[in-house]
Amino acid sequence: MQNFIEISDISKTYWSADGKTETKVVLPLSMTVAEGEMVMFLGPSGCGKTTLMRMVGGLETPEAGTIALRGERLAGPDRRRGMVFQSYSSFPWLTVRDNIRFGTRYRRDLSKAEKDEITDHYLQMVGLGRYRNFYTNRISGGMRQRVAIARTLASSPDVLLMDEPFGALDAQTREFLQFQLMDINTREKKTTIFVTHDVEEAILLANRIVIFSSRPARVIREIDVDALIPAEDRRAGTADMPTFFDLRAEILKIIREEYKHSLEDA
Ligand SMILES: Nc1ncnc2c1ncn2[C@@H]1O[C@H](COP(=O)(O)OP(=O)(O)OP(=O)(O)O)[C@@H](O)[C@H]1O
Ligand SMILES: [Mg+2]
Repeated sequence: MQNFIEISDISKTYWSADGKTETKVVLPLSMTVAEGEMVMFLGPSGCGKTTLMRMVGGLETPEAGTIALRGERLAGPDRRRGMVFQSYSSFPWLTVRDNIRFGTRYRRDLSKAEKDEITDHYLQMVGLGRYRNFYTNRISGGMRQRVAIARTLASSPDVLLMDEPFGALDAQTREFLQFQLMDINTREKKTTIFVTHDVEEAILLANRIVIFSSRPARVIREIDVDALIPAEDRRAGTADMPTFFDLRAEILKIIREEYKHSLEDA
């Protein structure tokens, strides 16, 4: 697999409103993501994961270093390249179905009928068929999140950037969507970066897990989950349990240690 996303020596500093205090959020940091790979980001709260995702999405500019997609340097958000952020937002003046269809608006490669077909596909996928004609201020928060996820998928970005997309969902919906995403990952091989605080979710979905230090973010550990627990076994629920529990314990230990450091430094 070629390097699809290439992050080279990027750093990011935020300044306080009076310009006197700086907060280093991302250290010179480099990493690559292969085409079709699903990378899960884990790390202490406030370490800079969202900032990093926003930089990959072109919504934030690194102060130094570069981010390239297919060898082409990123300069701002670019819909042609199809980078879409997980937003949780929906348009209250549009129905559930029209919100999802909105995701296809820039897809010039598709006919109207194809756009309808894709819209209905993702509408069903997130389990909102019955609510297709509801305005989104008349559905629950968890449903709105599913609308946002379906809209993002319908836009078919080259890279799917998901920042804790399932964080606020109930356990059943969460599990349902995790399996849908695994399915998409298997069928479409969609390059995905996914931030979560849920270690089990990370192990379930990942090809690879990247664990960040407390702020300023640097990579403290990368885990090739595919090499430890085959993806088919995770999908089928037949993963070797001792391996799974050992891996979970190991990751939790790393995160716990890092969290302690962050309290000491504060
Ligand atoms: N626009 C901004 N201006 C100033 N500081 C910011 C800005 N955005 C984020 N920060 C700071 O940068 C640091 C990293 O924030 P970020 O949201 O990237 O963390 P995170 O890893 O996504 O945390 P969480 O897991 O809680 O979502 C925090 O200290 C935050 O206060
Ligand atoms: Mg965040």
